[in-house]
Amino acid sequence: MSDALDVFDRRESEVRGYVRAFPTVFDRAAGSTLVGEDGREYLDFFAGAGVLNYGHNNPLFTRALIEYLERGGIIHGLDMATSAKKAFIEAFERLVLEPRGLDYKLQFTGPTGANAVEAALKVARQATGRSNVIAFTNAFHGLSVGALAATGNSHYREAAGITLDDVTRLPYDGYLGADVDTLDLLEKMLDDPGSGVDLPAAVIVEAVQGEGGINVASVPWLQRLRAVTAERGILLILDEIQAGVGRTGAFFAFEEAGIVPDLVTVSKSISGSGLPMSLVLLRPEVDVWKPGAHTGTFRGNNLAFVSARAALENYWADTAFVDGVATKSALLAEELSAIAAEHPELGFVVRGRGLMYGLACDADRGLAGRISKLAFERGLIIETSGAHDEVLKFLPALTIADDELRRGLAIVRESLAAAIAE
Ligand SMILES: Cc1ncc(COP(=O)(O)O)c(C=O)c1O
Repeated sequence: MSDALDVFDRRESEVRGYVRAFPTVFDRAAGSTLVGEDGREYLDFFAGAGVLNYGHNNPLFTRALIEYLERGGIIHGLDMATSAKKAFIEAFERLVLEPRGLDYKLQFTGPTGANAVEAALKVARQATGRSNVIAFTNAFHGLSVGALAATGNSHYREAAGITLDDVTRLPYDGYLGADVDTLDLLEKMLDDPGSGVDLPAAVIVEAVQGEGGINVASVPWLQRLRAVTAERGILLILDEIQAGVGRTGAFFAFEEAGIVPDLVTVSKSISGSGLPMSLVLLRPEVDVWKPGAHTGTFRGNNLAFVSARAALENYWADTAFVDGVATKSALLAEELSAIAAEHPELGFVVRGRGLMYGLACDADRGLAGRISKLAFERGLIIETSGAHDEVLKFLPALTIADDELRRGLAIVRESLAAAIAE
């Protein structure tokens, strides 16, 4: 195995990350299975950190992409109008916006989540003429400088090399314990001229924090956050980059709260196929951009538009997909609760929604990492999250079969037993 990775160790920057956690050379993939160059199979509970909600190489998208390539469809188009982009916008309007009564303009940004966040923060600041933004503890919004200022984790912040300004940090739901409504503090600070918090342009929030440790904002908390921001003319940005596109059991993670954000960032699974693509959804009043004021060469990944449209048409035209996610979510939650109950001495906390779950262990913060490593040896890819990497993070494809889900959970059980025995 070390020989196979030699060139990466020799030539790839020290910044490389996942290759260290999952040290093999991957070659092929289908659904929830990855295959290494050495022919070894791995079950995937990671899904490209939320990019592969519909599984690897979903044949529905592969077919659409091959047909498009074979007919000579435009691949790169900056932000020019193309038939692939037109078909995507029409499908998004028909299958996502209209059924939910949402009226958003679509901004196609550069293809990373971070670029969508940069754009959302920039336009919120322009629209309000204010610079401060409120972000929450354990938030992850990306690593370019504007997005990084809103990201909480010091591991990433220390890499910036400059001061990260114009963001005020406040506690996320549950940060001060289950009995404290952290929005009391937010509201007080906004209304107290002595608080030292400048009236913000926006509040940016994840409905479920992925990288921050699978922390779930409650419905009443999100509803109150919407009310508090609306009353004060503060824009509300929902970062749906990881929790969106069905991950929590609805297209948008904020849907359950019945709120309408002013801006929404979408990326990762929006293209379905894993091809890079990002979007900002803007309420029309907030769309104060001047033409070309936020550009980027790769805003027109037409292959991504083709698979994104195929994903919407195949999975979001009725409720079958969402119903399937609900069934699998119940299975996952039940199994994780059983694992937690079997080990009261470890004080596991199970958190999550849909197919985005965490098994948190504060009593032994290295345990999740050890389980992840032992699981990899047993053929399961599963990562950790949280400020101390103390949360084992379950993010299987939404298309995973029940028996695959059970098989992966059995590997987690075995790996936990092995970690305890070590
Ligand atoms: C909620 C959230 N926002 C933003 C980002 C940044 O996306 P990208 O890594 O594509 O820049 C991520 C990535 O994990 C994320 O989870």
